[in-house]
Amino acid sequence: MSVKILNHPLIDHHMNKLRSKDTNNFDFRISAKIVSNLMGYEIFKSLSTENVQINTPLEKFKGREVKKPFPCLVSILRAGSIIVDGLLEVFPNCSVGHIGIYRDHKTLLPKDYLTKLPNNIHKKKVFLCDPMLATGGSAIRAIEVLNENNCYDISLICLLACDEGINLTLKKYPKTNIFAAQKDPVLNKKGYILPGLGDAGDRIYGTE
Ligand code: PRP
Ligand code: URA
Repeated sequence: MSVKILNHPLIDHHMNKLRSKDTNNFDFRISAKIVSNLMGYEIFKSLSTENVQINTPLEKFKGREVKKPFPCLVSILRAGSIIVDGLLEVFPNCSVGHIGIYRDHKTLLPKDYLTKLPNNIHKKKVFLCDPMLATGGSAIRAIEVLNENNCYDISLICLLACDEGINLTLKKYPKTNIFAAQKDPVLNKKGYILPGLGDAGDRIYGTE
């Protein structure tokens, strides 16, 4: 188990744009994708590589490349797709799965409505993408779904996480690696992260 808060000047710079209520949907999407690019650059450092020989136009070159099978990125719909888009920009070879989950606004409990995963996902490292780790309910339900599909090498990538969500996720699934751009202290009564950035899905897709 591990929790890593990325702590990077460029990530922090763009997280401020996400947090600001004055950032419009268009600029929110741009900054969210940039943060995801930067997170991918850091997180994918841990991917296994193998030595390969490349023929340049002049001579042979001994290099390394990411070892197959390439990872699978799984988006918790809706908002997770912005992270997937950002990660695909830095590593387009990944496959992509989708798990549709929304939080019931009254109970805050997760409801899943769609699962579409690559057939061979159980052979791959899975990066589960969800911008907000709040109560942890959505992430935990998604990990349950992945376990039902025989996936156990799971890293969760979030833009913002709070202690409640981190602790609950690790209590239920201690082997999960959690990466977050930043961590905030608390949740309000409606389950929103404070100071936070508001409703990620609404801010990405302009549905507020
Ligand atoms: C948001 C967010 C996470 C979830 C986090 O999704 O994108 O998936 O809430 O909260 P939790 O940790 O308390 O479960 P939401 O339910 O708003 O759905 P959406 O992405 O379709 O907007
Ligand atoms: N989901 C969001 O989009 N924002 C929060 O602060 C908590 C859950």
